[in-house]
Amino acid sequence: MKKLIIINGPNLNLLGKRETNIYGNLTFTEFFEEVKGKYPNVTLEYYQSNIEGELITKLQDVGYSYDGIILNAAAYTHTSVGIGDAVKAIETSVVEVHISNTYGREEFRHHSYISANAKGVILGFGLQSYELALESFL
Ligand code: DQA
Repeated sequence: MKKLIIINGPNLNLLGKRETNIYGNLTFTEFFEEVKGKYPNVTLEYYQSNIEGELITKLQDVGYSYDGIILNAAAYTHTSVGIGDAVKAIETSVVEVHISNTYGREEFRHHSYISANAKGVILGFGLQSYELALESFL
């Protein structure tokens, strides 16, 4: 059984009530339960933090034993050399995901410190981006 984890960065705990025109009405917990039900043969975990260092610690904790990491570092994508370095350091493949199409938004969202060391990047498909990333590990 594949062991995967979704790691979400800052403000993604507000899904369902944050800028719903961009991010939708579903809470992440609702979505996560739905996905878990759809993939009974995957051990799927979820971790969210608003704190950069906690995200780095989590990447280090899972990055040598899990089969895959689905990472939405949210705003830290565009600012964090530390998260980029962690993704580079660990052995487990990371798929970078974004709910919105960051290239259709403000210029500062066009650069990612993660992409260069990710296995791949999936963005712009709403919450389905996570599911497509999950599929890529199966
Ligand atoms: C996001 C895009 C980021 O630019 C933004 O800061 C987020 C969410 C997305 O999933 O579309 O918080 O990562």
